Amino acid sequence: MASLVKFSRKIAFISPRRPLECLFLLGMVTVTLAATAQHPEYQTVGGWSCHMCPRGTFVSQDCTSDDPASTVCTNCSEGRFQPSEWTNERRCYTCDECDPGLDGSLGGEPLEECTIYQNAICRCPDEFYWSQPNRRCTAVTECPPGQGVTHTATIVADTECEPCRPQAFSATSSAEETCAPCLICEELQREVSPCNQTHDRVCQNISMPTGE
Ligand SMILES: *[C@@H]1O[C@H](CO)[C@@H](O)[C@H](O)[C@H]1NC(C)=O
Ligand SMILES: *[C@@H]1O[C@H](CO)[C@@H](O)[C@H](O)[C@H]1NC(C)=O
Ligand SMILES: *[C@@H]1O[C@H](CO)[C@@H](O)[C@H](O)[C@H]1NC(C)=O
Repeated sequence: MASLVKFSRKIAFISPRRPLECLFLLGMVTVTLAATAQHPEYQTVGGWSCHMCPRGTFVSQDCTSDDPASTVCTNCSEGRFQPSEWTNERRCYTCDECDPGLDGSLGGEPLEECTIYQNAICRCPDEFYWSQPNRRCTAVTECPPGQGVTHTATIVADTECEPCRPQAFSATSSAEETCAPCLICEELQREVSPCNQTHDRVCQNISMPTGE
């Protein structure tokens, strides 16, 4: 149901005038879309097409070969979720439990409870993020020298790093710093050592002849 609502919002965006009338029309548009081939479909093993199931549900029975809309979609059960807008999966995923600190490892605090539409969101201590694959708090990665941060870690995602491009460098490991542009030697300076991914360029003043 939530997916249909979301689907409708996109359409609402296109026709923002007269909200009430739109709401009414949207109901019809949604139903019409669902009734035509524009509803996302999947192929059964038997080779015919069936409507996919919306967020929060799974396919508990394929449609019959003569009616693509007859797919049976069932709500995820307690403790399970299915976050894709449309799915042909036959099961929901198991919700994360925020505090699996069974073996003394760090646990997370529930920030949002699991619903049938989305996994629980768990908040970890500083410098840790909740790793969904590992189902535990995991130390945030520091980008090593030669790499800069492109995305800092979030509650549920690790830092993302990228190698410094030409003429940029990163001399330290850091979970925050991006690559910095290398120094450019001024006029009347000479390069003492070049710029590479891990070292800034070093420039030195050319000592001027002191005249007579
Ligand atoms: C499925 O879940 C939604 C949201 O929790 C609920 O509104 C709806 O009634 C449920 N449908 C069935 C058939 O249980
Ligand atoms: C980068 O430059 C520094 C200083 O010039 C040098 O010591 C280092 O070996 C260089 N690293 C690479 C990978 O070229
Ligand atoms: C280099 O020259 C600039 C300008 O002439 C001066 O401000 C700076 O202090 C000098 N640096 C060194 C290391 O001598």
